[in-house]
Amino acid sequence: MTDSPLSIAVMVSGHGRGSNLGALIEGVQSGELNAKIVLVIGTRADAPALLRAQEAGIHTTVVSPRKYEGDAQGYGDTLLRLLTKYEVELICLAGFMLRLPPHVVETYRNRIMNIHPALLPEFGGQGMFGGNVHTAVLESGAKQSGCTVHFVDENYDTGPVILQHIVPILEGDTPQTLAARVLTEEHCAYVEAVTLFAERRIQVEEESVRILPPTEINSGELL
Ligand code: GAR
Repeated sequence: MTDSPLSIAVMVSGHGRGSNLGALIEGVQSGELNAKIVLVIGTRADAPALLRAQEAGIHTTVVSPRKYEGDAQGYGDTLLRLLTKYEVELICLAGFMLRLPPHVVETYRNRIMNIHPALLPEFGGQGMFGGNVHTAVLESGAKQSGCTVHFVDENYDTGPVILQHIVPILEGDTPQTLAARVLTEEHCAYVEAVTLFAERRIQVEEESVRILPPTEINSGELL
């Protein structure tokens, strides 16, 4: 007996390139991920990520936070209506740079994931995205960087960490070369984290994540 596919919504913002969304789409298409991406929500219609989703036959919609400036309740209500309509079980932020309204976080507590291109809790927080992160990492003299998949809470980049992939910093690295190496790891890390969620192997206890071992059913053996 297999579990029914996990129902996922992916959220992107701005001109989101959508490579992490692409990795999740491929994870689903290859069968690695027992999931279905039922909806991609963008903040503007011209984001390449939305085109990518449409090409894969996935429903897309735009909810512009600008339209709800100063009305977090209204913005969140609209998101929740969509998430309910599409029966979303897990929200994946993929290049989504904004804070979600608190009532969305509360409704989906430990069911919203984000990917961040550094080893949190270092190099996170407001304004820490894209090239800013990699520049700060290199300027700090760190010997390694990487990416983090974590659950989303009410603040920027502070929720419980699910997993991290480490990437060494090499002599002569620039923010661009480091970003490219980290991005490759992001794609594997995100699929891995969502797979663990789909297999119900992530437990959150007092803000800490525990990864449970595969069960006999998950490893395909008979009970
Ligand atoms: C990724 O590097 C992701 O880690 C980062 O945005 C990029 C989106 O790329 N997110 C953050 O910095 C969040 N603070 P993508 O559109 O190709 O997936």
